[in-house]
Amino acid sequence: MTDLGAIVRDIAAEMAEATERGTVADYIAPLKAIDLARFGIALVTADGACHAAGAADEPFSIQSISKVFTLTLALGRVGDQLWQRVGREPSGTAFNSIVQLETEHGIPRNPFINAGAIVVSDMILAGHRPSEAIGEIVRFVRGLAGDEAIYVDESVARAEQASGYRNAALANYMAAFGNVRRPVEETLGVYVHHCAIAMSCRQLALAGRYLMAGGINPETGRRIVSQRRARRINALMLTCGHYDGSGEFAFRVGLPGKSGVGGGILAIAPGRAAIAVWSPGLNERGNSQLGTLALERLVQRTGWSVFEPAEDA
Ligand code: DON
Repeated sequence: MTDLGAIVRDIAAEMAEATERGTVADYIAPLKAIDLARFGIALVTADGACHAAGAADEPFSIQSISKVFTLTLALGRVGDQLWQRVGREPSGTAFNSIVQLETEHGIPRNPFINAGAIVVSDMILAGHRPSEAIGEIVRFVRGLAGDEAIYVDESVARAEQASGYRNAALANYMAAFGNVRRPVEETLGVYVHHCAIAMSCRQLALAGRYLMAGGINPETGRRIVSQRRARRINALMLTCGHYDGSGEFAFRVGLPGKSGVGGGILAIAPGRAAIAVWSPGLNERGNSQLGTLALERLVQRTGWSVFEPAEDA
């Protein structure tokens, strides 16, 4: 039988030795200060067992990983109408790119690039004050993880709001097409706050369980989304979750995954496990260098790639 505890401990030990660690994101001031030596991994299996190693309990800025949770929340709110305002195709461009928005009339390619996630924030904000929308997102994530300690790091939100010229450009541009409908600064406020949620690998893996378990939180038995919606969110994570690095991530890891510039990745092995890794050094596409390598090794040792024949097939 596969000893998952030993596998995650071995991977953490190997990552501690790694020399090519990437570079930390420097455009959000507080992220610059994070120690490149950090590495954490946690996975929760379908039977509820949790295996963790390294800095698995240290909170980090989840950044774009939050877009999985806001997409889930917005789909629950507006249903499939969401797809009239956001596409479902990989962009092949950087996470903060503006180029496609002009030819595609202000409809972002997918909900995981910044433009798409800003539209999703705008949908969650509809009919609410920004503080209510942010509160709803944080409560949702706490409920998924079963952990009330999850919080928004205000210093990260403030830093991003102060320097987020590109996101402001994207939001204003989409407002010109009628695809950002609330006041732009309010929509951006919701967006930067959900990006500034701080979570540990353990909390993140727990929060991702519903995507591993066909839409149900396996601990509470509560249905979060339909099975079909869980499958579709996983499909979007596989095709769009790493921006212009999504093909490379599918090639190396072969799991639905969502990265963030804080250096975290949430990956889903459907029916098997929800996995979170964190290492703050990023590759040239803005995705965690060692996080990707760690997941690549995990999949090699467990056979969990979605492209691998199931052992019991
Ligand atoms: O909007 C931004 O640029 C950040 N709040 C999030 C970007 C991000 O995490 C991209 N992921 N790799």
